[in-house]
Amino acid sequence: MASFLVVNREEEEQCYGGTAALEQATDGICELLSAVGLHSFTARRRLISRQISASVAAGPKALSEAKRKEVIEAACQLQEAMETAEEKVFRIMSMPNDATALVIAADMNLFDIAAGHIGSTGEAIAVSDLAAMSGADIHFLPRILRFLAGHGLMIEVAEDRYQVTDAGRLLLNDQPLGGMVLAMSMSLLPLGNMLQYFRRHGFQNPSESERGPWQYAHGSDRSFFRWLEGKPKEKKAFHLAMAGLRPNAACQWFEHFRVREKLLVSGSRMSLVDVGGGMGHDAKRAKAYYMRMILHDWPEKQAQCILAKVRQAMSEDSLLLINEIVLPEKGISLYEARMDFLMMAFCAGMERTERQWTELLRGAGFVIRSIWTCGATRLIEAALDTV
Ligand SMILES: C[S@@+](CC[C@H](N)C(=O)[O-])C[C@H]1O[C@@H](n2cnc3c(N)ncnc32)[C@H](O)[C@@H]1O
Repeated sequence: MASFLVVNREEEEQCYGGTAALEQATDGICELLSAVGLHSFTARRRLISRQISASVAAGPKALSEAKRKEVIEAACQLQEAMETAEEKVFRIMSMPNDATALVIAADMNLFDIAAGHIGSTGEAIAVSDLAAMSGADIHFLPRILRFLAGHGLMIEVAEDRYQVTDAGRLLLNDQPLGGMVLAMSMSLLPLGNMLQYFRRHGFQNPSESERGPWQYAHGSDRSFFRWLEGKPKEKKAFHLAMAGLRPNAACQWFEHFRVREKLLVSGSRMSLVDVGGGMGHDAKRAKAYYMRMILHDWPEKQAQCILAKVRQAMSEDSLLLINEIVLPEKGISLYEARMDFLMMAFCAGMERTERQWTELLRGAGFVIRSIWTCGATRLIEAALDTV
């Protein structure tokens, strides 16, 4: 056992829950971190060790959001440090396989069928039953199920018997995450055709919402949202996913923003208008106009048009509240890079840095007053530039 793990006994009991196997696993991870030169200070190793133990023992909900992220970050660093370049390239280039298998599973209703079966019998489902109930070939089905097991969405409890996990249950058809799978599956076609799109367009940044990677892949001249109007199943999934998408579940913008001070109104004046919240409205002179994940759907030209429309509705003291990702100028995370790419695939849209937000807003006659932090996104508070 590594000596750096000798800590206060009471503290140790608390962290490890007295589980020797867990303690050993944690020691192993910490020794590996240490061996590859990560977390070289004893105190740091102890902290990581305790976090890993606590998170494994108690599950992610027992940790604060910051600590949960720290544990994941440590695990990712470990993987990055340990894998060979060959493994890295294979992992990256194989990502479409995993997404495709998940989309096929969702389309075949495998989660709903297996979860329904468990609900009625309390048992795991046999592959032969799942094949009969989904209409799939019994030789094809296991090739999908092994991905679900690999990602912890089903458990292979015995040979040819599978059970949906808690995470898998969140992917049932009527769940927001089920909607998210279908919604994100729509990106696979434009992503698969993106290389050809960029070759044809000389690797220029897409600047037209009706002539981007989406239209190239679909042979369409409609923007993504226009296209969605004619697709009821996809539209329902998209709105289900949007309604449930809470990247900041642990932290909402209105918990930080001084709502009473800034949004208080008198008389019949509207306090807050949710622009593009999916309901449709024509609200003039409200105290604030809020837009969550709207402008990242559009390239510069259309984003300017939307802002000009909102500007027309505002009065001099109205505020514009934009709830979006604000990319750092340096060190953009893979999550942010993926979101940016998705926006490009769907809508020729983009995630923006603070500098890009400032320029976009300045071009539309706004000035940024503050940027409030709330989890993975920010709340940009802007006002009309009256100077
Ligand atoms: C990424 S979603 C964000 C939805 C919502 N604000 C939220 O955070 O969940 C973008 C929204 O913009 C809406 N939208 C797109 N084009 C629009 C248009 N021309 N007029 C009104 N709404 C539009 C879509 O219907 C969709 O609900």
